[in-house]
Amino acid sequence: MSKKRVAVLISGRGSNMTALIEAAKAKDYPAEIVLVASNRPEAAGLARARAEGVATAVVDHTPFGEDREAFERALDAQLAAHRIDLVCLAGFMRLLTPWFVTRWSGRMLNIHPALLPQFKGLHTHRRAIEAGVKQHGATVHFVVPETDAGPIVAQDWVAVSKDDTEETLAQRVLEVEHRIYPQALRALAEGRATFVPSGDEGASR
Ligand code: GRF
Repeated sequence: MSKKRVAVLISGRGSNMTALIEAAKAKDYPAEIVLVASNRPEAAGLARARAEGVATAVVDHTPFGEDREAFERALDAQLAAHRIDLVCLAGFMRLLTPWFVTRWSGRMLNIHPALLPQFKGLHTHRRAIEAGVKQHGATVHFVVPETDAGPIVAQDWVAVSKDDTEETLAQRVLEVEHRIYPQALRALAEGRATFVPSGDEGASR
């Protein structure tokens, strides 16, 4: 079976991107990372991707101003040029419009540093500590128009200790992220994780 062609979208350091690139080096891995794209030209992950021999693309969102869809059309053109099958959001800090999400519905994953549906949004580790939860973790899910929602593909947790700071907790959760994202992408690429949106959500694909 031919390997699925994957684009990883980043905005920053790209440690999850690196975990996916590493996992995809295995002969039996069903996907290859063929493109890393960033909306930020200075994203540190771009250099790492290049060092790994992965093609990179920068689609800076700033010239597009408030026209999110125009930015996404430029991004989508890059995905098309690289014949991308699947998209992994990995610290990609742009809200996506229903146009883009619908286009990639069932073929796009995101990783979120919390046990969804708990702690959607930003600053999840700080909020977990403040809330006094005993368990915290990370989730890989299909992307749907609502932010940090969508069917869960993989999730794992760590115990929160009373000595944890935002930083120590973030570090342990990151280890979970690096483990579950490659597992989730494998499941999607092998057809073991599927999501077919109901109604006309997926109609324009
Ligand atoms: C990760 O914690 C991820 O869960 C969140 O953004 C962070 C990105 O980190 N969406 P990295 O760029 O993958 O290192």
